[in-house]
Amino acid sequence: MTYLAYILRKIAQNPGRAARSGLKYVTEYLMDRRIGVSTFRRDFVSPASSGGDSRPCQPAPYEVLSDIAGHLRATGFPLRTFLDVGCGAGRPLAFFSSLGFERMTGIEINPEVAERARRNMARIRPAWNRAGRIEILCADVLTADVDFTGAVVYLANPFGRATMQAFAAKLKAQLQAQPDREILLYYVLPLQAEALAEAFPRAQRLLAGGPLEAWQFFRLDAASGG
Ligand SMILES: C[S@@+](CC[C@H](N)C(=O)[O-])C[C@H]1O[C@@H](n2cnc3c(N)ncnc32)[C@H](O)[C@@H]1O
Repeated sequence: MTYLAYILRKIAQNPGRAARSGLKYVTEYLMDRRIGVSTFRRDFVSPASSGGDSRPCQPAPYEVLSDIAGHLRATGFPLRTFLDVGCGAGRPLAFFSSLGFERMTGIEINPEVAERARRNMARIRPAWNRAGRIEILCADVLTADVDFTGAVVYLANPFGRATMQAFAAKLKAQLQAQPDREILLYYVLPLQAEALAEAFPRAQRLLAGGPLEAWQFFRLDAASGG
C-alpha cells in the first residue's frame, strides 16, 4: 500500500479523526524540520528476521519522546550510551541527540531503512546535536554484537513475543556477566511488556502515557532478573 492510499483510506473511514491526525502530522513534520531530518514516512511491509515477528518501520510521536526525555533527565542516569533497538529512520536517535549522550547506536534489521537512518543522522542540525558519536548498525538485535549494560535502551514495538523473550534473555545474560551495571529501558507501544516483566520479575517498572501513546520504563539489573 502506498502512503497516499493509506491516507485516503483513513480520510474515507473517519474524516474527523483523519483531520486530527492531519494536524498531528503537521506538528511532527515541523519538528522534523527543526531537527533537520525526515522521519515522517511509515512502512507497511514487515522485514524478515530470525524470530519471524518483526514489525515495519513507524516513527514514535515526538510528544512521547519528549515525555521520555523528561523522565530520563529526572533519573540522573549517566548519559553515556543510548541504544535504539529497531531504530527505523532514526527519529529517536535524532531527537535524543540533544541530550548529549557520549555514544548513540541505532540497530536496524532492514537495510533500506538503516540507510534512511544514516542519511538522517548526517542531516541533524549541529545546533541540535550534542551527541559525541552516532552510528547505525544494520543487524538483527538477537545476533548483533552489542553490549546493552550501562546503557539507556529504547524500543518502540519492534517485534512480537518470541523475539522479545529472546531479547530479554540476552539482556539478562549480559547483566549477570556485569552485575555492577544497570540498564534503563524505555518501551514505547509496549505490546510485549509482559515478556520483559516475566524475565525481570523484580524490576522497577513504570507505566506511562495514554492508551494510544503508552510507554513503559524498566530499570534492569542482575538482581531484578529473578
Ligand atoms: C515501529 S519501528 C520503530 C522506529 C523507531 N525506533 C521509532 O521509535 O521511531 C520498529 C523498527 O524495528 C525494526 N526491527 C524489527 N525487528 C528487528 C530486529 N530483530 N532487529 C533490529 N531491528 C528490528 C523494524 O525494521 C522497524 O524499522
